[in-house]
Amino acid sequence: MKTKLAVLASVAALSSGSLASAGEVEVLHWWTSGGEAASVNYLKEKLGEAGVSWTDFAVAGGGGENAMTVLKSRAISGNPPTAAQIKGPSIQEWGNLGFLASIDSVAKSNDWDNLLPGVVSEVMKYKGEYVAAPVNVHRVNWLWANPEVFRKAGATIPTTWDDFMVQAQKIKDAGMIALAHGGQAWQDATVFEAVVLGVGGPGYYRKAFVELDADAINSATTVKVFETFGKLRGFIDSNSPGRDWNVATSMVINGEAGMQIMGDWAKGEFKVAGKHVGTDFVCVASPGSSGSFTFNVDSFAFFSQSDAEKAKAQGVMAGEILGVDFQRVFNLNKGSIPARLGMARDEFDSCAHDSMDAFVSSSQTGGLVPSFAHGMAVSEAVSGAIYDTATNFFNSKTSAKEGAAQLVKAINAAR
Ligand code: BGC
Repeated sequence: MKTKLAVLASVAALSSGSLASAGEVEVLHWWTSGGEAASVNYLKEKLGEAGVSWTDFAVAGGGGENAMTVLKSRAISGNPPTAAQIKGPSIQEWGNLGFLASIDSVAKSNDWDNLLPGVVSEVMKYKGEYVAAPVNVHRVNWLWANPEVFRKAGATIPTTWDDFMVQAQKIKDAGMIALAHGGQAWQDATVFEAVVLGVGGPGYYRKAFVELDADAINSATTVKVFETFGKLRGFIDSNSPGRDWNVATSMVINGEAGMQIMGDWAKGEFKVAGKHVGTDFVCVASPGSSGSFTFNVDSFAFFSQSDAEKAKAQGVMAGEILGVDFQRVFNLNKGSIPARLGMARDEFDSCAHDSMDAFVSSSQTGGLVPSFAHGMAVSEAVSGAIYDTATNFFNSKTSAKEGAAQLVKAINAAR
């Protein structure tokens, strides 16, 4: 007769045997901040429950530029990961290069076409078949504020760019930093994008930065955008160069700074710090953009595998990602809203509710636009040109007219 220990050992062997048979995934991502790590860990956990083991391939660097560089070198050397955080038009670029695997059978058997909004599902398909699975919808046009800083400065939360300058000046005069900012190209571009949307409105945004319409780019509105963007140079601190975005968020969390303009992944940092919306922090649409929504959908694209076990594990991963559990917990941690339609709202906070409502209403008014600062709108070459122009301008004394002219030149050269 077997001892208790031996029975336990054989049960463990049995279950580890069946777990191992569900395969393994190596997943490239750039989620290394507190809120991001909590989010991605849940995916790892869900896959573990489904018997898929996880090899973490995290490449630090907000916005994902570093991760994309590493991904390219791995792919070129013939050794891509099983799945990688890739989004927007880049999915098509990887598809064109022949790297991606279809997960259409998982998508079909789970009815993804009806579970996802059209603006999300179309990005996930290459030549009509799903090759990527969306984890969330981030809204990028947010302003995060510390109400205590505003109270001390006698300032009110701004809703237009003109008012932003007035309120930011009050915070500065009270001896605090008005705008927490990290001087990295993608963060400069994120703030620039918010200015484009608030100053020009979603119609101009779409024409100039999605359709790349020459007249819209080369217009008086673009000069006005650079004027407003340039004024923000006066509201950041001298230590901003190179600062990571989550460090900038922590300046708002601890009351060193009044505001940050950043996508709602920032909310994940407030959450990890145990802060509550309304009392400890406030979220409002970035100035002048309350009816609009710059969307940024994070997704995992799957790379073709010769090993059938790995391909099977990709199917399990894709299935988990669209599951109700994953979409709920991941997005509660990440600050985003679920990509999956019809999810219960009650556990989400008021920022998420605003985001859910704005996603629907902006899609009816033309205010729903893809984020160019986060790889959703234009090719990598064009977004690189916009990054360069925004960052060079912000870090110099270049005039608004000159900034606008440089943007026209850079976009023309890149497209
Ligand atoms: C991604 C977010 C991420 C942020 C900061 C964005 O481009 O979509 O998921 O949290 O960059 O790294």
